[in-house]
Amino acid sequence: MDDTEEARVYDEADFSRVNLCCARRISRLLDTERGHALDLGTGPAEIPIRLCALLPGWKITAVDASPSMLRLARSRVREAGLEKRIRLLRADAKRLQKLRRSFSAVFSNSLLHHLHDPLPFWRQVKRLTCRGGSVMIQDLRRPPNRTRARELTRRHTAGAPPLLKQLFYQSLLAAFTPDEVRKQLADAGLDLEVRATTDRHLAVSGRL
Ligand SMILES: C[S@@+](CC[C@H](N)C(=O)[O-])C[C@H]1O[C@@H](n2cnc3c(N)ncnc32)[C@H](O)[C@@H]1O
Repeated sequence: MDDTEEARVYDEADFSRVNLCCARRISRLLDTERGHALDLGTGPAEIPIRLCALLPGWKITAVDASPSMLRLARSRVREAGLEKRIRLLRADAKRLQKLRRSFSAVFSNSLLHHLHDPLPFWRQVKRLTCRGGSVMIQDLRRPPNRTRARELTRRHTAGAPPLLKQLFYQSLLAAFTPDEVRKQLADAGLDLEVRATTDRHLAVSGRL
């Protein structure tokens, strides 16, 4: 999502309910008062900002490959006064050589379906999560056919701009099924649970 118009439309859409649910799900996995988490594909950084409110002792490194998204994220983090707790980094989530330390938690929302070959991403998740650390990766899941994808698009993007409807429909078709994700995890040597969480989402979670 390196296109400025796509970044703007995405930023203006109201994902607050999904993002709040995602932040709560992540916070429930984290049972220590302090820690350092990594967010992959952070977009406008709404989830790290919400997470900082839920977890006052945590810091977050938030990565995105898109300069347009990082510009939006930078201004959101500044507005929230969280520059000291959220560090923004431009990088490809499949190649994170810049990051040498491991994190107490690694999470991501709506990045997986952007990756044609997710194996390098899962390998980074494994490398960057410390022993006993938590993982929570949420994404869309691919519906069984285009008719169902159109139905979900109608249901969940009513009133949204046409570009957002189109992005949502394409994202559903690009997403993986829970079984495909289980195979990816097995290939990466990751022992994590995969669950369908809503009519359009899946979540991968657990401790390493
Ligand atoms: C659908 S948005 C989700 C943003 C955010 N996680 C959220 O839930 O609001 C996907 C984000 O992943 C980023 N992205 C796509 N491919 C990436 C990659 N290989 N490495 C890092 N970020 C990537 C895009 O730039 C975009 O900001």
